[in-house]
Amino acid sequence: MKKRELEYELMKEIEERYSTMQFGEGEVLEEDLRAMLLAATQAPSAYNEQPWRFYVAKTQQDKEMLMEYMLPGEKEWMVKAPVWILLAGDVGDTHNGLFNYWTSFDAGCAWGFLALEAQRRGYVTHCIGSFDRVDIRNEFQKNDNIEIYGIVAVGRPASEEATAREKVPPRKSVNAVQLRRK
Ligand SMILES: Cc1cc2nc3c(=O)[nH]c(=O)nc-3n(C[C@H](O)[C@H](O)[C@H](O)COP(=O)(O)O)c2cc1C
Repeated sequence: MKKRELEYELMKEIEERYSTMQFGEGEVLEEDLRAMLLAATQAPSAYNEQPWRFYVAKTQQDKEMLMEYMLPGEKEWMVKAPVWILLAGDVGDTHNGLFNYWTSFDAGCAWGFLALEAQRRGYVTHCIGSFDRVDIRNEFQKNDNIEIYGIVAVGRPASEEATAREKVPPRKSVNAVQLRRK
């Protein structure tokens, strides 16, 4: 398993997670999939609205439906992942009936929880955002309120040989991402 070289020791799952384009043999166990989604639902959210929504695509038919909206380059490696989880958010389902400004923020946190639980259970993930995010909404109920943020490929890790050429993208330093006052 690749590991980020970091200044401080972090959770193993954070150190080891990266967006792979290689997936190994082996299915995603139903119990593990449910646990990943459960982890996602444990994320905090503004007013506890829990605006994240998921659609799990495991069948060829469901994947083909999503592929209609994806770029050709992504499909090539995504098909190797047994499960795809579409991550969405409901921007209108709120206690006060107003637009939920924090939906994408909260859904992003849910995706982070999902990815780390997947990693902990011995899976790898890769989220993509390159699809037609307007038209894809037409596949789902309440599409006026639904924003689709990503499609996450989930599968077992590929062999070290298969991933040997994959690089873990570097990060900006903590100093570099400090917001500075005017
Ligand atoms: C919302 C979102 C959209 C992304 N879209 C794509 C994508 O369309 N294609 C792709 O190959 N990777 C995509 N990625 C993966 C990022 O490129 C990747 O997370 C980033 O380069 C950092 O690398 P790491 O995840 O390996 O640490 C996306 C990630 C996120 C969170």
